[in-house]
Order: sequence, then C-alpha cells, then structure tokens
Amino acid sequence: MKKINLVLLGATGSIGRQTLDVVRRFRDRVNLIGFSVHTNVQAIEAISQEFGASYAVITSDINFKSEDLSILHGEEGLIELVSLPEVDTVLIATLGTIGVYPTLQALKLNKRVLLANKETLVAFGEFVNKIKTGLLIPVDSEHSALFQLLENRKDEVSSIILTASGGPFRNVPEKELKKVRPEDALRHPTWNMGAKITIDSATLMNKGLEVIEAYYLFGFPPDKIEVIIHPQSIIHGMVKLKDNAFMAHMSYPDMRIPIQYALFYPERLQNTSLREVDFLKIGHLDFEAPDFSRFPLLPLAYEALKRGTPYPACMNAANDIAVAAFLQHRIKFTDIYRTVESAFDRCRGKPTTLEDVEQIIKEVKEYAKEFIQQIS
Ligand SMILES: NC(=O)c1ccc[n+]([C@@H]2O[C@H](COP(=O)([O-])OP(=O)(O)OC[C@H]3O[C@@H](n4cnc5c(N)ncnc54)[C@H](OP(=O)(O)O)[C@@H]3O)[C@@H](O)[C@H]2O)c1
Repeated sequence: MKKINLVLLGATGSIGRQTLDVVRRFRDRVNLIGFSVHTNVQAIEAISQEFGASYAVITSDINFKSEDLSILHGEEGLIELVSLPEVDTVLIATLGTIGVYPTLQALKLNKRVLLANKETLVAFGEFVNKIKTGLLIPVDSEHSALFQLLENRKDEVSSIILTASGGPFRNVPEKELKKVRPEDALRHPTWNMGAKITIDSATLMNKGLEVIEAYYLFGFPPDKIEVIIHPQSIIHGMVKLKDNAFMAHMSYPDMRIPIQYALFYPERLQNTSLREVDFLKIGHLDFEAPDFSRFPLLPLAYEALKRGTPYPACMNAANDIAVAAFLQHRIKFTDIYRTVESAFDRCRGKPTTLEDVEQIIKEVKEYAKEFIQQIS
C-alpha cells in the first residue's frame, strides 16, 4: 500500500498535535516529510526524531540550528517544503493568513490540501477557487461533515446547516458580556482548541468565519447557509434535501475524527481509540436559534459575504487584533465587536490580486490597533 507523504504546517498547535496523534496510530500509512513551527522551536527535535521528518520550517524569526534535519525559514520555507516532489499531501494548521501561500502552491502542483486554517478561505477564498486544481479537503469539523454529506449528493440539497455549540456565553445576558474575562471565554463547553479560535467561539465570530468558508468550499449562496445552536456538539453539520428530509453527521467533538477522515480520504479507517457516541447516555439533542443581538459578529459575517471581497478579509484582520488585545486584558469582550464593526465600516477597495488583499489587511490591522489604543 502506498504511504501518504505528508507535510504538516503548524505542527505544535492544537490541530497539529492532534494530527501527530493520528499519524502515530497509523505509522505504517504515513511518512511525515516535514513540518512547521512558529515559536515553539524546542519541539523540533522531538517531532523529527519521533516521526523521522527531514525538514522543519520556522515561520518566526527565532534562530534554531540542527545537525539532524534541514531547517527552512518563513513563507519561502513553507513554499519550498510543500513543493518537494516527494510530498503528496499538505495539512495546513497554522494560524493566520500565512497559510494561503503553501495552500496555493500545493494546489497549483496538484497536491492534496487538507485545510484546517480558516483565514486562507475567509480572506482569499476567491483567489483559492480561481486557481484550484488539486483536491482541497476541509478539516474543520463542520465543513468535514458537510463535505461528507454533500459528496455525490449536491444536486439533491437545498440548504446546508452548520451547528455551533453557542460557546461559554450562550446564556449570559447582554449587559453581563462586558464583564467577562479571557479566562471565562477560554473555558469552551465542548471543544478543546487553541486560544484564538476559543475566543472566536465565544463571540460566534468563529461561526461567521465558518459560514464564509462554507460559501467558498461548497458554493451555496449565503441565504442557503444556516447556523443552528446545538449545545451538545454532537451534530456537526446537516443538509436539507429537496424533499425536506435532513441528513446529519454526528460524533463526539474530537478533531481527530475529521483529521483522520481528511488524511485518508476517500478511505475510512477503523480507529477504536475514537469514542463512539452513546445516544442513550446523551438522552436528547437540543437546538436553538443564534442570538444576533448578543453576538453581532455572526450577522456581520453574512453581510461581509454579501458584499464580497475584501469585507471578509477586513473583518478577519480586525478580529485578529481585537482578540489578541482581549487576551492581553487590554479591552473588554464586547470591545472585540466594536473594533470589528468599526473596521468593517471603513473597509474599502476592489482588490484584484492577492497582494491587494494583503495591503488591505495590513491597513485594517493598523486601523484596529489605533482604534484599540483610543478605547483602552
Ligand atoms: N483547534 C481546533 O479545534 C480547530 C478546529 C477547526 C479549525 N481550526 C483552525 O486551525 C488553525 C489552527 O488552530 P489551532 O487551534 O491549532 O491553533 P493553535 O493551537 O494556536 O496553533 C497554531 C499553530 O500555528 C503556529 N502559528 C502561530 N502563529 C503563526 C504565524 N503567525 N505564522 C505561522 N504559524 C503560526 C503555531 O506555532 P507555535 O506553537 O510554534 O508558535 C502552532 O503550530 C486556525 O486557523 C483555526 O481557526 C482549529
């Protein structure tokens, strides 16, 4: 059986570590050729020794030398790594927009891209879709669910539904939201994820980003992409069929399930370490409508999608800065909304190239920093 020759970008993060866990279980099926880290250079030797990788990319400017493996640097290093002829599969689990470069390069070279990084499609979805030749498989649990539900069935589907747990503040009244601290927001009720995405789950910005991602991945218009709050996080995605029947994808919230699915697609491998849903123990599944007034970044994401590029990129860039400031206790939780809304109002331009979008992102980030300076 041919082994998968994998590059894992963002190997030290939440998705990266869970991917290594899946690779550990299926060592006879996967060669880890190389990986990237940003700040956690201490992890390089351990990962390369355990998995026999020959290359590591450092995307920050931290210095690190190794006699055992080739060290590459920055965006160019990511592009060089995914371009190696022996690499056939690239999993992108870095934070931020840097993920777009290796994604585009791998797709151009007809390699399989397993995409966890949200920012790539949110900010550059139009450009990714224009050049897409290779196979792009989503890793995000909701999109993985929809990818599976839509396969060979797209013509039968009238709308798609993304579920959201509702985050830790699902039942917190509007006036209380001002007082919540980063420690409260980092306590996600069902998923264990990196800090940035956990805050985005608390504001429902994460669901907004996912609506935008779903648009670029599956091509449904915004009014055919619905969001339902489902606190148990058992159903990850649903499709409504033309005869009003629904199909749902269910599992316990565990990212190793969509990671494994993407890695071995179209094969579905047995893995007894992944827990089977115990429906009798769960007893019931609940659903509610998202509250657009307490969580205004979700309706704003729909608006961004309707307006098109560069609005999703503007929202995302301002949110990056606002979330970082909130995590540093510099602004209140609800100031994340204010920052993103203000940057959205100032979003301008008709970018025709990737570089144009990058320039807009740079300007929005500067604006968001100034805005935060004024309000904090
Ligand atoms: N966690 C989840 O369950 C989940 C689910 C769906 C989608 N996603 C998406 O997957 C991506 C990764 O999420 P995560 O939760 O795994 O994040 P995370 O735990 O914060 O890890 C981020 C990874 O990216 C690296 N990184 C950080 N800043 C970077 C930069 N500026 N340039 C290049 N690499 C950078 C980190 O390296 P160092 O640790 O070495 O600094 C780490 O390897 C995000 O886009 C997120 O929205 C995550």
